[in-house]
Amino acid sequence: MEPPSGPPRGGRVPWQEVLLAVSLLTFWSPPTTAQVTVESVPPSVAEGKDVLLLVHNLPGDPLGYGWFRGETIEPSRQIVSYVVDAQVTTPGPAHSDRETIYPNGSLLFQNINLIDTGYYTIQITKRNLQVDQGTGQLRVFRE
Ligand SMILES: *[C@@H]1O[C@H](CO)[C@@H](O)[C@H](O)[C@H]1NC(C)=O
Repeated sequence: MEPPSGPPRGGRVPWQEVLLAVSLLTFWSPPTTAQVTVESVPPSVAEGKDVLLLVHNLPGDPLGYGWFRGETIEPSRQIVSYVVDAQVTTPGPAHSDRETIYPNGSLLFQNINLIDTGYYTIQITKRNLQVDQGTGQLRVFRE
């Protein structure tokens, strides 16, 4: 009588198992989503003018946004937060009454000042409560 066949030991792995492993890896790898980016329109702006920080590759299921001065999520530097469903805007400590957030996350800056030069970061909270973020640069020049 033959002994029951166990797992292959030190030998070759059957192709079916390799293919199954590959398909499982493909299945389990996280979906590759495009990185959220922030574009300043125009790319550099004269003092006193308006500028729009456009958000590209916004996830399809946003719950809310937060905009921050700087490259990090620093609560004391929050400009504004926005709840998408309720369309409620809440100014943060770094709000200066010149910023307006749109339902698509983009931020309008009016009457820009030289000291507004720098980086701005949006944090997007999705419905699964995961967060995405993107940072863009604002360049202001004196005319
Ligand atoms: C977001 O909305 C603003 C205001 O309606 C618009 O100007 C801008 O183009 C929109 N941004 C994108 C990325 O669609």
